[in-house]
This record gives sequence, structure tokens and C-alpha cells, in this order.
Amino acid sequence: MTKLQGIRACVFDAYGTLFDVHGPMRKLSAEIGEKADEISRLWRQKQLEYTWLRSLMGVHADFWHVTAEALDYALEHFGVEEPGLKDEIMALYLKLEAYPEVVAALEAVKARNKLTAILSNGSPAMLDSAVRHAGLEKLFNMVLSVEDVGIYKPSRRVYRHATQKLQIHEAPSICFITANTWDAAGAAQFGFQVVRVDRFGLKDDKLPGKPAALIKDLSELAAMV
Ligand code: LAC
Repeated sequence: MTKLQGIRACVFDAYGTLFDVHGPMRKLSAEIGEKADEISRLWRQKQLEYTWLRSLMGVHADFWHVTAEALDYALEHFGVEEPGLKDEIMALYLKLEAYPEVVAALEAVKARNKLTAILSNGSPAMLDSAVRHAGLEKLFNMVLSVEDVGIYKPSRRVYRHATQKLQIHEAPSICFITANTWDAAGAAQFGFQVVRVDRFGLKDDKLPGKPAALIKDLSELAAMV
């Protein structure tokens, strides 16, 4: 086990790290059919691409808007046209399930007297809804959205926002936890100590910035900080 030194706060990515983004399509798979998994993966991929591309293009729109446009793309690509289905899927995106170990893992981190925060692409309303639905309200000191910055991760401005809000100006005093390989690279390159949760069996990205540690799920985290 890697023991990280000098950590004062644990800052978590939200989607894919705390919340299972593939839940909505799984729940509706009877209606959507056998391609539900594939559609969900394309939806997620397009959602992320659109955040990066909008950031490069300088045309920010919030994550709700981007998520809906990515869903339009994925449904159109697979020729899914059922009326009302898109709204049903989007409504479920506001009520994502937390992964099973999340509550206990956060309690264990808090028991070590670390500050806890979310730093996510999600809009404040989306994050508020997901956090409440999963019963995580009391487990975070702060829920931070890129909407306060106006650009998406992995912009350094977003990671800097967390240091400012937490008033922890030495980046290595923050442990950043994410299941997204590109977010792990961005946060590590910024200077956070990064723990990547390998939920999807992925290799580290070939980008500047490497995670300090790889864990299978969040239950391993508290002992490291
Ligand atoms: C987030 C996405 C990137 O929560 O997973 O920021």
C-alpha cells in the first residue's frame, strides 16, 4: 500500500468515481434493448469529448447541456427514437447511485480528520441532486463545480479553484481521487497527489502527470491518507 504524506484534504471527482454513470441505461435496458451498454459508453465518451472541445473552442455550456447533447448524439448514432426516452434517461442522471463502498469510505476518510470535497464538471444543480439522492450531504465539507470557473477539467484553473476554496495553497497537500485517467493526469500535472480508482480496467494515460497510486475501489483510500 502507498502511504501518501502531508495530506490535508481529499478531493473527489464525481461522475464515474462516486456515482455510477452507467446506471440510467442499465435501468432502462428493457426499453432500450441489447445495445444499452454500448449506447451508454458512447454517451459518456461524447459527453467528455464535448467538455474538452467546448473548452478549446471557448464556448462553455454547463454539464447538463453537454450531457443532453451527448445523449442526443448517442441515441441518434444507434437509431433510438422512442418518444420520451431521452427525458427519462436524463431524469435518471439526476438520481445516480453511488458505488456501494462510497459512504463507508468517506466516513473513514473523515474519521482521519481530512477535509473532503467534490470537484466536478457537474453543474451545481446536478451535483446537489446526486449528492442528496445518494445521502452524501454530511460527508463533504464542500461541493465545487467547474461552473464557478467557466471551463472544464483538465484546465489547471479548475484544480486551482479547489486550492483557493479549501484555502490549501500547497497543491501536494491535496489528495485528488478520480476514476478518469485523463483527470488523474491533469490533477497530477497540476501538483495534487492523485489516487486513481481503477473501476474500468484502464491503463494510465500517456500524458504529463501520473497518479501516485492505483486502487480497486475507494475502500482502500482512508488507510493511505
Ligand atoms: C466529473 C466528471 C469528469 O465529475 O466525471 O467531473
